[in-house]
Amino acid sequence: MSIDEILNKTNLTCEEIKQLLAAEGEDKKKLFDRALQVKLKHLDNYVHLRGLIEYSNICTKYCLYCGVRCKNLKVERYQLSDEEVIECAKLAHKLGYGSVAIQSGERSDKAFVDKITHLVQEIKKIDNGSLGITLSLGEQTEETYRRWFEAGAHRYLLRIEASNEDLYYKIHPRDEKHDFKKRLDCIDSLLKVGFQTGSGVMIGLPFQSLDDLASDLLFFKQKDLAMVGMGPFIPHPDTPLWAYKDQIPPAEKRMELTLKMIATLRLMMPEINMVAATANQTLDPQGREKAILAGANVIMPNLTPNEFRENYLIYPDKANVKDKPSQTQSKLDESLAAIGHKVLYNAWGDSVAFMRKKALGQ
Ligand code: 5AD
Repeated sequence: MSIDEILNKTNLTCEEIKQLLAAEGEDKKKLFDRALQVKLKHLDNYVHLRGLIEYSNICTKYCLYCGVRCKNLKVERYQLSDEEVIECAKLAHKLGYGSVAIQSGERSDKAFVDKITHLVQEIKKIDNGSLGITLSLGEQTEETYRRWFEAGAHRYLLRIEASNEDLYYKIHPRDEKHDFKKRLDCIDSLLKVGFQTGSGVMIGLPFQSLDDLASDLLFFKQKDLAMVGMGPFIPHPDTPLWAYKDQIPPAEKRMELTLKMIATLRLMMPEINMVAATANQTLDPQGREKAILAGANVIMPNLTPNEFRENYLIYPDKANVKDKPSQTQSKLDESLAAIGHKVLYNAWGDSVAFMRKKALGQ
C-alpha cells in the first residue's frame, strides 16, 4: 500500500505500522506532517505540563536497564520529606502548571503506601484541589491503586517497557519480582479502578525489532489507553544492559525511531495524551520540540529540588539536571512559541480520549 493511503487510516495493521516506522526521505516527512496535522485538528496547539516530583530513588527492583536499580550500590538513596513534596506541588501551582506527577523507585510496603496516600491528600488541599495528580509508582495491588485514586490521584503511568514477553525478559530478570503477567494485570487494575491510565516503552533496546515496536503500538490501542510515554533507550554504565551498548542503533537512529513511533501512534490514537519524554532531550537538545512536532502534547518539567536530581539518574547525562524551575519556565515558553505551540496554563490537561469515553459511559 502507498504511504498516502496508510496515512489516511486510523486502524493500521502491523505491516502498515512497520512500513511507517521504516519510512525514509519524502515518506518520512509525510508521516511527520500528517501526525502534526492530526494532532492540531484534535488537540490544537496546546501543550500540557506536569510538574515532575522525583519522590525517591529507593527501589526494590533491579531492572536490567535502569540506573537506580537497587543493585547499583553507587547510587546515594534519598526520599523527599513531606514538606519538600508539598513545596514542589505549591511551586507547580504557582507556576500555573495545573498538574503534578509523582514518580519514584518501586516500593509497595505499607509505610510507602500510607505515605503516598497522605501526600496525595495534602497536595489536594492546595487551593481546594486545583492541582491534578499523576502517579508513576510502579506495580501495586488493586487495593493500593484504589486507595490512591480515592485520595485524589486521577492519572497513573505504568510503562509496559516491552509488550513482547520474550523481549520483556531480556530487559528484566526472570523472577517473581519482575513478572510480565503481573505488569499486565496492574495495567488492567488501573483501568478498572478508573485512572486515566498510561503506559509506554523504551525504543532502541537491544534485541528489539520493528515487529516488537509495531506490536507495542497495537498493544496501546488494544488497551484503549488514555496516555502514552515513549522515549529512546539510553544505556547506563552501571547496569547489565550496558554490555549490549554496541548492539543498539546509534543515538540519532534511536531518536528518529522514537519520533516515528510518536507520529504513528498519533495517527492511530488521535486524542490521547502523549509525553515528550526527557530522554528525547537527553539524546538531542531539540528532542523535546521534535517530539511535540511529531505528535506529543505533554511535557513534564522537573521540579525535584536540584540537590536530589543527580541521584535520580535512571540513565546517564539526563537533561535539565542543573536547571532552575524559573529558567525552565521561560526557556520552555520560548522554545514552544518558536514551533507554533503554547502551554495551556492552570488546567489539568486531561486526556481527551479518556474524557470522551467517560462522557459516552464506556
Ligand atoms: N534509558 C531510557 N529510559 C529508561 N527508563 C529507565 N531506564 C532507562 C534507560 N536506561 C525509563 C523506563 C521507566 C521510566 C521511568 O524511565 O521506561 O519506566
